[in-house]
Amino acid sequence: MFFEVFVARRFVLFCALLQYTNGDLVYSIQEEMKLGSVIGNIAKDLGLDVGTLSTRKARIETEGNDRRYCDVNLRSGDVIVAERMDREKICAAKPLCVITFEILLEAPLELHRITLQIQDVNDKGPTFPKDKIKLDISESADKGARYRVNAAHDADIGQNAVQSYALQRNSNFVLNIQTTSAGIKYGELVLDKELDREAQQEMQLLLTALDGGSPQRSGTLTIDVTVLDANDNAPVFSQAVYEASLPENSPLKTHVITVSATDADDGVNGEVTYEFSQISDDSRKVFSLDQSTGEITVIGDVDFEEENKYEMFVEAKDGYGLSSDAKVIISISDANDNAPVITLKSLTNPVPENVSPGTEVGIINVQDRDAEENRQVRCFIQQNVPFKLIPSIKNYYSLVTTEKLDRELLPDYNITVTATDEGSPPLSSLKMIQIVIADVNDNPPAFDERSYSTYVSENVKSGHTLCSVSAQDPDWRQNGTVIYSLLPGKVNGAPVSSYLSVNGDTGVIQSVRSFDYEHFKNFKVYVMARDNGSPPLSSNVTVSVFITDVNDNTPQILYPAPEGNSFMTELVPKAAQGGSLVSKVIAVDGDSGQNAWLSYHIIKSTDPGLFKIDLHSGEIRTQRDISDSDNMKQNILVAVKDNGQPSLSATCSMFLLISDNLAEVPELKDMAYEDSSSKLTSYLIIALVSVSTFFLTFIIIIVGLRFCRRRKPRLLFDGAVAIPSSYLPPNYADVDATGTLRSAYNYDAYLTTGSRTSDFKFVTSYNDNTLPADQTLRKNPTDFEEVFGDLDVSPEVGRL
Ligand SMILES: *[C@@H]1O[C@H](CO)[C@@H](O)[C@H](O)[C@H]1NC(C)=O
Ligand SMILES: *[C@@H]1O[C@H](CO)[C@@H](O)[C@H](O)[C@H]1NC(C)=O
Ligand SMILES: *[C@@H]1O[C@H](CO)[C@@H](O)[C@H](O)[C@H]1NC(C)=O
Repeated sequence: MFFEVFVARRFVLFCALLQYTNGDLVYSIQEEMKLGSVIGNIAKDLGLDVGTLSTRKARIETEGNDRRYCDVNLRSGDVIVAERMDREKICAAKPLCVITFEILLEAPLELHRITLQIQDVNDKGPTFPKDKIKLDISESADKGARYRVNAAHDADIGQNAVQSYALQRNSNFVLNIQTTSAGIKYGELVLDKELDREAQQEMQLLLTALDGGSPQRSGTLTIDVTVLDANDNAPVFSQAVYEASLPENSPLKTHVITVSATDADDGVNGEVTYEFSQISDDSRKVFSLDQSTGEITVIGDVDFEEENKYEMFVEAKDGYGLSSDAKVIISISDANDNAPVITLKSLTNPVPENVSPGTEVGIINVQDRDAEENRQVRCFIQQNVPFKLIPSIKNYYSLVTTEKLDRELLPDYNITVTATDEGSPPLSSLKMIQIVIADVNDNPPAFDERSYSTYVSENVKSGHTLCSVSAQDPDWRQNGTVIYSLLPGKVNGAPVSSYLSVNGDTGVIQSVRSFDYEHFKNFKVYVMARDNGSPPLSSNVTVSVFITDVNDNTPQILYPAPEGNSFMTELVPKAAQGGSLVSKVIAVDGDSGQNAWLSYHIIKSTDPGLFKIDLHSGEIRTQRDISDSDNMKQNILVAVKDNGQPSLSATCSMFLLISDNLAEVPELKDMAYEDSSSKLTSYLIIALVSVSTFFLTFIIIIVGLRFCRRRKPRLLFDGAVAIPSSYLPPNYADVDATGTLRSAYNYDAYLTTGSRTSDFKFVTSYNDNTLPADQTLRKNPTDFEEVFGDLDVSPEVGRL
């Protein structure tokens, strides 16, 4: 038997023998002794003889089926370790670890109780439940926050159990050691400095648990701290103000600008979404913001004229609602998409035609909603109108007349106003303005002809249409309505209205009475054409009325006195030779022209072969020499015919006495009722007749010459002694207007007196204007109007 002190490394094997009075043995042994290690010697401790042990069959008995940790060496009496004794296994955490068993000896039966105290050895180190733990700590955790770490466990007990912890140095945490009520120590991580995930997202801490054994054992725990993100960062925009420019009329989906904000936070906290924060309803209709990309695109009509600048705020928000704003300014640039708009602000319409040039008739306003040069507008009208546009203040233009207007020339104007802006391409618009020119009574009626003349036969009934005048007035409506009237005046002392009437509407001139050519041959009236304007304008025209002759007067025989009325006798000298002028029939005709062209015929004579009468002059001449056998008393019946259709005629008788001396004639009393004269007187008369005849011939030649030069003779008789005024027609002077036989029928009045006592006087009276000849040569038809003018309306009347 031996008693061995086991020293393992620095551990000292210790064995103690405790003596119990009742024969019980108490041993103390360190755990984990090697098998065979001697715990004690029962022979010695119980005072037994070693040699008897085997004979007495000393053995260890355990109760029940407890394990047998020990055995007895029968040769030495040593109690040895038979099985590994792990205190922690056998007693766990019991502070006193005791194993009891009995030693049984036979012969005699002897029972000894042995108590084996197992002493703890620091054979275990502290261990944490896990090698590694994960700790998620929000970065928002406050300073002082505690995070318990499960205690490390050490199977050993007492001093060998966990005594302390140590934390690896780090910047954020410190260690605080706590003891539970059960006396178990554990550590707490205390946040000493706030975490910042954005600075350090993860960290590894090493926590060491130490026991109090010797040698000291330790166990470590790796703590992986993950800093959980706290939403402590708001998204930050890359710019405080975003500015973009966008042309108007950009199509839908046009990219405008992309705003961008970043959030330093992680995950949801760093997920930035965008939305408009302050935006007008109008803007919202035009722009959309992509929630996730921050792209602003066009979704509506971009109209510069509506809005040229949009301002809005965009908010960027992270998952938990932290947000920030940025301003977005979108400037819209103008495109020339609006044509100018022409507005007629005022218009004088219609424009009176008498406005003076430069009169403003309208005001035009032109506007263009575009900007800058796109709104610079030029405004003009076409060239060929008497109007122009004058730029006035701002966008106003005055439409003024440039010349005198004449409604009668052009009653209306269509003015095209064109406005063009200066954009590129330029836009333009047109406006038609119709300007109507209003009438002003500025045109007097104008007669179609400068003067009118008309011919009317005498004796036509009243109501006969002579002619019609017509005048035109280009003015409008009543200003152009022409009314005709006669201007008051006198014709031959009577008002014109008693001769003519004019139809106010048609201008037809009618006679009011019949005319007598022999009374007057022509007259003039003035017809006025007046319009209905206010005041009215008028013009007048002369209407010359020429009355044409009708053969309504029978020739009137002036000499000899008509048949039955007188009894005149011509004396024919016996010595008269053939061809001698014996007498002359004088006749006149109130008509004119053909109607007054008289021819003389001998209808009946006493001795037809003796006398002949000149067809035209009415001169009675002898045809042959007078012989004594001829009857002293000769009677001739002369007819005077005019040339009218039908012709009118008159007859007269002429008594001729062939005698040298009236006294010789016994029947003279029958023939002559006048006093007898002396023979001397008879000769005187004959001489006088001859001289007179010569003189008359001379006069005729002169007058004839004048007729040749002058188309208008005035042959007037003054009252002669030998021609009773009652014989003369009221008017037998010619006027050229009758136009017939102008120079051919300048008949002459021959007065041959058949009486010694009869006297005659022949007077020609010329109108002034037949003289002198050189003046008459210059006359032309218009001069005759003057002549008429001179005469005024009084017709030419023969003066007696
Ligand atoms: C102006 O236009 C109107 C109607 O459009 C037309 O009746 C008239 O004849 C025109 N006038 C001129 C002078 O062109
Ligand atoms: C006629 O002319 C006058 C001015 O002279 C004018 O006032 C009037 O309106 C005109 N009448 C018509 C129908 O045009
Ligand atoms: C007729 O017209 C002329 C000019 O045309 C004028 O001189 C004259 O006075 C007028 N006569 C009357 C009676 O109106």
